[in-house]
Amino acid sequence: MTLPKTKPPLRKYRDVAPEGDVPTTRTTGLDPDFWYPFARSRDLKPGKTLAVRFAGTEIALVRPEQGEPYALEDRCAHRQVPLSMGVVKGEQLQCGYHCWAYDRTGACVSIPYLDRGRTLPNGVRGYACREAYGFVFVFPGNQELAQATPVPELPYHGDRRYKTRVLDRDIACHYSFMHENLMDMNHQFLHRSLMGRIRAKLLDVREGEDWLEADYSFSRTEGKQSLGERLIIGSSSTDKYADLMTIRTGYPYQTLRYWTDGKREEPPALDLWNAYVPTDRAQNHNHTYGLIMVQKPPIPGVIHLLWPVITLFTEGIFGQDRAIVEAEQRAYEAQGADLNNEVFPIIQSLKALLARRGVPLPPTEH
Ligand code: FES
Ligand SMILES: [Fe+2]
Repeated sequence: MTLPKTKPPLRKYRDVAPEGDVPTTRTTGLDPDFWYPFARSRDLKPGKTLAVRFAGTEIALVRPEQGEPYALEDRCAHRQVPLSMGVVKGEQLQCGYHCWAYDRTGACVSIPYLDRGRTLPNGVRGYACREAYGFVFVFPGNQELAQATPVPELPYHGDRRYKTRVLDRDIACHYSFMHENLMDMNHQFLHRSLMGRIRAKLLDVREGEDWLEADYSFSRTEGKQSLGERLIIGSSSTDKYADLMTIRTGYPYQTLRYWTDGKREEPPALDLWNAYVPTDRAQNHNHTYGLIMVQKPPIPGVIHLLWPVITLFTEGIFGQDRAIVEAEQRAYEAQGADLNNEVFPIIQSLKALLARRGVPLPPTEH
C-alpha cells in the first residue's frame, strides 16, 4: 500500500522582494491600450471565426467572405454563448443558437423571430481590428484611443533583402518573464548545447519612461559557431566582441537587432520583433507572436536552401527559452512570491518599467 504524499503547506503570498528588486511586476497586467496580434492572418479563413483572448477577455475574430476582418466581444447579447460558435453570413455574424445577427461594430441588427415594431436590443462590444505583417491585430483597450495609436512599424518586414519566420505559440508564463529572458543576455549558458559558450559584454544601456534598450557584444570562450548561428548572423564575429546586439523593450513590444560587424548604420543581419499577449485573467500565460527577419545572403535563392537549418536552430533556441521561462513561472507560483535575487541592474530597471507602465490585474473572483 502506498501512503498518500503529504503536500507541503502553502506559503503565504509575500509581496516583499529582496532589497532592490521590484516585487509587483508579476502581478501587473499588460496595458490593453495597444495594438496586439491575436492570430496569423492565414489562420482566420474567409467566412470563419476564431476565438481568442486578452487577459481573460474573450474576443471573436471574424473574417467575412469579402472585406476586412473585424473583432467583437465573444458573447451573444441574448444568452451569453460565444459568438465565435456562430455563422458568418455576408458581412454579419449570426449567433449559432437563435440566429441573432451582429454587424461589424457589434450592433445587433436582426432577430429573425422578433415581432415587427419591437426595438432591437443592444449588441456587444466591437474592437478595432487591423491586419499587418501577416497578423490580425486588435486593440483590446479603450476604443477611443485605437485610431491615434499606431500599429508598430517594422521597417524590414516585407523588405526583399529579408526573409521572415513567424513565431506563434502559447507559453505558460507571465509576459514579464519573456521580456526579462530576452533582455538578459547573461543567459547564454542556457544555449550552450546550440551555441557553445558565449560571454556577453554589456556596452551601453539607454532608458526612457516607456522603453529600455541595451547594447551587447559577444565573445565565444568555448566551442565553435554552429551552422545555424552562422547562417543567421554570418561569420564568427561572436568570437571576438566585434558584433553588436541591441535589445529593446519599447512598451509593450520587444525587439532585438544584430549587426555582425558591429555597424549600426548598416541594415541588421537579424531583426526580431516580439509581442507577448496575456491570455488568462491572472496573465500567467501568454501567446507569443514574433517575426524573425533574417537578411538574405547575396546569392539569390540560397536563403531558401538554408532555411531548414535556420528554422531548426531558432526552434532549438526558443525551445530552450520556453522551457526555462515556464520553469520560472512554476517556481513563482509554488513559492507564492517573487523571491528572485536579481543582480543585473538592467533587469531591475526592466521590471520597474513593466510595473510602471502596466495596469492593475482585474480581480480574480467575480
Ligand atoms: S444565444 Fe445567441 S441568439 Fe440566442
Ligand atoms: Fe535565450
